Amino acid sequence: MYQHRESQTMSPAEGRTMIIGSAGFIGWFLADACLQSGRPTYLLVRSGPGFASRSLKSSKIKSLVDRGATILHGCVKDGELMEKLIRENKIEVVISAVGGDCVWDQIHLIKAIKATGGLVKRFLPSEFGHDIDRAEPVEPGLMMYKEKRKVRRLIEESGVPYTYICCNSIAAWPYHDHTHPADLLPPLDRFHIYADGSVKAYFIAGTDIGKFTMRAVEDPRTLNKTLHFQPRTNLLSINDLARIWESQLGRSLPRVTISEDDLLSAAKGVVFEFIGVFL
Ligand SMILES: NC(=O)c1ccc[n+]([C@@H]2O[C@H](COP(=O)([O-])OP(=O)(O)OC[C@H]3O[C@@H](n4cnc5c(N)ncnc54)[C@H](OP(=O)(O)O)[C@@H]3O)[C@@H](O)[C@H]2O)c1
Repeated sequence: MYQHRESQTMSPAEGRTMIIGSAGFIGWFLADACLQSGRPTYLLVRSGPGFASRSLKSSKIKSLVDRGATILHGCVKDGELMEKLIRENKIEVVISAVGGDCVWDQIHLIKAIKATGGLVKRFLPSEFGHDIDRAEPVEPGLMMYKEKRKVRRLIEESGVPYTYICCNSIAAWPYHDHTHPADLLPPLDRFHIYADGSVKAYFIAGTDIGKFTMRAVEDPRTLNKTLHFQPRTNLLSINDLARIWESQLGRSLPRVTISEDDLLSAAKGVVFEFIGVFL
């Protein structure tokens, strides 16, 4: 059984924190906020061709190291190494921001955290979206939701102390063709408006996701809980987003309506490759 001591609270200075995926989109905001919070910050970085060694990613990592972060080389799939790194570096908080296609890799990490027998006081798995136990998207998104749900259940069975961060949507234009928020500006020629454009969702800036995630780590009230980021001022429809973007651009753009049927057929045309194995 995982020996978690609930009475222990961490001060930022002593909460040694490992961030996984700091060269990625969400992970960078988390690592940045972790350093700002004054915690000893450890970055798990994969080595070898194609990993964080790519130039943009390595410059992101370098900027974090220049501010005091320590690099740990490894891959979450290597459970033995994960356990060793956690023990040797006395890691108390593990925050994972592996990409949506690598969610299942975290099973090795959970086993490694459990094997350390109580060293890790909080684990935040790669969530950072909508509440995957409540929402039921169509494929291909559903596949990732199912993997994230399985990861949640595994964490709960293991007894590892956790917090699930549901930060909802990223403050960016919600492209329906699954364009990643990091990859494109909002439209410059025309808006695609979904139905009448009035449905609202919470859109949260990456910097706020980082900052409030670090606050959650320190807060005993978030232990073994799901935390929802839902500031009222950030509840916006796609019509609201279009108006905000037009005010930034200084000009208006034409609108094209995308119906529910159009959206569903577009989703059918998108296939993601998942290599996870379901229990
Ligand atoms: N709410 C939203 O709108 C929204 C938007 C985007 C993402 N998200 C969620 O946020 C989370 C992170 O996604 P992201 O798009 O930020 O990811 P990303 O940009 O693809 O970055 C993923 C990072 O994880 C690292 N990684 C992947 N597998 C690993 C492994 N086995 N061992 C060690 N490191 C590994 C990658 O390392 P390398 O650098 O070596 O490749 C990369 O740095 C996901 O759960 C995703 O669903 C939510």
